[in-house]
Parts: sequence; C-alpha cells; structure tokens
Amino acid sequence: MKVLLTGANGQLGRCFIDKFPIDWILLATDSQQLDITDNLAVNNFINEHRPDVIVNAAAYTAVDMAEDEQDLAYQVNTIGPKNLAIAAQKYNAKFIHVSTDYVFDGTKNIPYVEEDTTNPINIYGKTKRNGEVAILNNNPSAIIIRTSWVFSEYGNNFVKTMLKLASNKSELSIINDQLGCPTYAGDIANTILTIIMNEFDGGIYHYCGDQSVTWFKFASKIFLITEKLNPITTKKITLKPILTSGYPTKAKRPLYSVLNMNKIEKIAGIKASDWNNALVHVISHIK
Ligand SMILES: NC(=O)c1ccc[n+]([C@@H]2O[C@H](COP(=O)([O-])OP(=O)(O)OC[C@H]3O[C@@H](n4cnc5c(N)ncnc54)[C@H](OP(=O)(O)O)[C@@H]3O)[C@@H](O)[C@H]2O)c1
Repeated sequence: MKVLLTGANGQLGRCFIDKFPIDWILLATDSQQLDITDNLAVNNFINEHRPDVIVNAAAYTAVDMAEDEQDLAYQVNTIGPKNLAIAAQKYNAKFIHVSTDYVFDGTKNIPYVEEDTTNPINIYGKTKRNGEVAILNNNPSAIIIRTSWVFSEYGNNFVKTMLKLASNKSELSIINDQLGCPTYAGDIANTILTIIMNEFDGGIYHYCGDQSVTWFKFASKIFLITEKLNPITTKKITLKPILTSGYPTKAKRPLYSVLNMNKIEKIAGIKASDWNNALVHVISHIK
C-alpha cells in the first residue's frame, strides 16, 4: 500500500506518521514539498508517484486569522482539497479528507448528523464547507471525515495553550457555554487507517470524542490530569467559567458542535475517541 500524506507537519499528519504500518510505503509531504494549492505540482506529484491512497491532513486552521486572510484560507481549504480530489480521481487513488464541526452554525441541541444542513458562521468554516462540496462534486468516491476540537502532543492546540498559560498565570477565564467533543489526533489517524483497509462508500462521516464538554470542563480535566501526573511540581491554578460574550474573538464560534457518530460506528465498528485516556498520554508527552 502506497499512501501520500499532505500536511505531514500538522497534528494529524504527525500522529498519522506515528501510526503508519511499517510494511506500507508512506510519502509524507509538508507544504514545502507539496503545496496543495499548486494544481500543477499536485498533478505532477501524483502522476509520478501513483499512490493507492491520498490522505489530506493539510489545512488552514487558524480560525481567527482566517477572517483577515480569507483568500489564503480559501486556497488551502477549498482549492487545495479540490486539486487533490480531481487528481485522485484521474490517477485512481482513494481520497480521504478531513473537515470540521465548524461547517454547522451550532444552533441545534442534539448531535449533528452528516445530512444536517450546513451553515458555517466564520470564514474557516465556510472555506472548509466549500472544500467538502468541491471534493464531492469532482470525486464522489472521496471520503470526508468531519471531526472537532482536535488535540495531540504535536503542534498548536487547546491543551498546549492551557499548559502554557498556566505557567505564568494563577487564574484563567475559560468559556463555559460552547459545547463540543475533544478528539485525539492519534484516534483520527487510526480511523483513517481503518478506512484505508476497508471498503467505504464515498461521502461524509462524523468522527469525534466520546464525551461532550465545554472548554471550561475540558480545561478542568487538563489541569486535573496534570496535577495527578506531577503532584509535587504542579502549581495551583484557578479556573473561572465565563460566557462567549465575555471573550470576544474575530471569528464567531458555534455554541453547540457535538457530532453524531452513528454512521461510522455502524459501518466499520469504529469507536469514538476516548479523549480522557488520550489526554493522559498527551500531557505526559508534552511534559
Ligand atoms: N485543530 C482542530 O481543532 C480541528 C478541528 C476540526 C477539524 N480539524 C481539521 O482536521 C485536519 C487536521 O488539523 P490539524 O489540527 O492537524 O491541523 P494543523 O496542525 O494546523 O496542520 C495543518 C498542516 O497543513 C499544512 N498546510 C497549510 N497550508 C498548506 C499547503 N498549501 N499545502 C500543504 N500543506 C499545507 C501546514 O503546514 P505548514 O506548517 O508547513 O504550513 C500544517 O502542518 C484539518 O483538516 C482541520 O481543518 C481541525
């Protein structure tokens, strides 16, 4: 099995490399080696290497910055995935792409299913949704995994931000009215490997953590685990729950972004990400 991975330096990219079977061939590319927005480069690369599978872990993920860098976000999240989808179709490779809970507006109060109407409320979500549409219009057998609140021992994420802030502050105000499911990037990587090894119909699949929490509750868990792992060295931090309105950001965020995972569970028996367990692993590796 020959797999092309894009976005190899990101959270998902690095976890995917860690989990990759040793007897398969991995072509891991970062943005320098393969810029997915460059259609000619994408075509040349795929024509030359002829991978069986293409996994797109590349994305523009800076949600607030996307409001100011709309064109860049559009190029990376819409045009790049479209380029890959078309080339995958042309050269007969299975295409697996990753999308986001932020394609929804968060006005529901029960978990979102794949068929729910999308209505992104920020530029990042809009560019990711346009990417989904462009992929499926050009390559109906492409597989799109929507996930949420991704964390890992790599790159930038909420867990690392919390630990960093706690190192020079004694009190943190954390949003307590946005609800979502943290998802470990290593579990997404395993899900992608399961998809590679099995027959999957093209389309969208939801994959996320097994428990929904607010950012405040997620932060509380992060510090509880940190203290358990390092009872002597960890200094006490006070967490204050606040409302979204008390922490204005450039990009709006959905208040409710819990995804319903029944479809992927039923088809392949894939279990939700056990993020509590993964958090212990991640915090031990960050420390
Ligand atoms: N992070 C989250 O909370 C979250 C939530 C829901 C869904 N997702 C989705 O999950 C997927 C993985 O996210 P992640 O957190 O692993 O992202 P990440 O850590 O931000 O990594 C994204 C990678 O994409 C690469 N990239 C950017 N522009 C590129 C280009 N033009 N060509 C090739 N590579 C490019 C970046 O490489 P350089 O650094 O070299 O530019 C970066 O390493 C993404 O599709 C994201 O939208 C993430």
